[in-house]
Amino acid sequence: PTFEEFSGRGVWRYAAALPFEAGVSLPEGDTPLHEVPRLREDVGVRTLRVKHEGMNPTGSFKDRGMTVGVRVARELGVERLACASTGNTSAALAAYGARAGMETLVLLPAGKVAAGKIAQASLHGARILEVDGNFDDCLEVVQALAERGEAYLLNSLNPFRLEGQKTIFFELLEGFHADEGRYPDRIVLPAGNAGNTAALYKALRELVRAGSLTDDDVPKITAVQAEGSAPLVEAIEEGREAVERWDDVQTRATAIRIGYPVNAPKALPGIRATGGTAVAVTDGAITDAQRDLAREGVGVEPASAASVAGLRKLRESGVVDADEDVVCLTTGHLLKDPDAAAAAGTEPEPVPNDADAVLDHLG
Ligand code: F0G
Repeated sequence: PTFEEFSGRGVWRYAAALPFEAGVSLPEGDTPLHEVPRLREDVGVRTLRVKHEGMNPTGSFKDRGMTVGVRVARELGVERLACASTGNTSAALAAYGARAGMETLVLLPAGKVAAGKIAQASLHGARILEVDGNFDDCLEVVQALAERGEAYLLNSLNPFRLEGQKTIFFELLEGFHADEGRYPDRIVLPAGNAGNTAALYKALRELVRAGSLTDDDVPKITAVQAEGSAPLVEAIEEGREAVERWDDVQTRATAIRIGYPVNAPKALPGIRATGGTAVAVTDGAITDAQRDLAREGVGVEPASAASVAGLRKLRESGVVDADEDVVCLTTGHLLKDPDAAAAAGTEPEPVPNDADAVLDHLG
């Protein structure tokens, strides 16, 4: 593939804010900013839009980071790309590594990665190592490999990943302003390692510094975690500068089953400086929000629905006002976790192979 192939499109439309003019591209970005009128009415805010990052080539926002990160790796001439992952990073790295013709290695927490994501990593030809431990353990191992020069690390600790992910928010703000004639008051997003939260803050600061956004227009960064893995929320609630590692993390939203958000030092100041907050939601509320989005035709994986569940909770507690303009970020596609989707949806009904019998059954 040539770097020029998709220059000027999607992520690369924002090349002026990126370290290169083009990258290893499939291409990525240009995701929809959905209207969800029934959900908006139900939650009770002035405007609610959903930026669906599940519509990227491998079905998650990770592609925006990989198009930049894998370009850097290729530039450096490294031999092996590697990441730890709850699934989506591994799927994206496998695809972008394949595109660049490079060897990829992914470390996954055994038994805790959704089926669609492993299938992607597998078919794109990554070497998949299943670690007896959680995501945080996997990240420690892969960091050690990178420090020994055995692999190039493409987790969100790699700053080039976050450069690409800034474009989610350039696109979001540009799209919202084009439709509504103003900027949103608040951006709500799920947080695991808090890489996206950090990328959002960096994007906002760059826009302010460039004079594209005034201080008054800066949206409140609002991060959502699952109750069973919420170290970032704990740090915000307790007013601490750093997160404390949770060794035992539990949630059905496996993408954000993370006990030590490595980007917290970049994310916490952003949440505070923009007047935002962080909130934890139950797995039940996440499933309800997944259904709410599905009813609007928007299919997302559980971690993505955390943003909507968090917004609902903050609206109910009065932290979010009725007159706010809000954008929720949904980070991954429904098909990433088919088991979670099937469990949250309607049951298939067995019927005979006969129209009359089918009508009888329908009642
Ligand atoms: N949503 C989805 C669907 C994710 O896959 C992730 C992270 C997040 C949200 C959280 O983003 O880490 O920037 O706060 N997934 C990583 C992975 C950890 O390995 O795929 P964050």
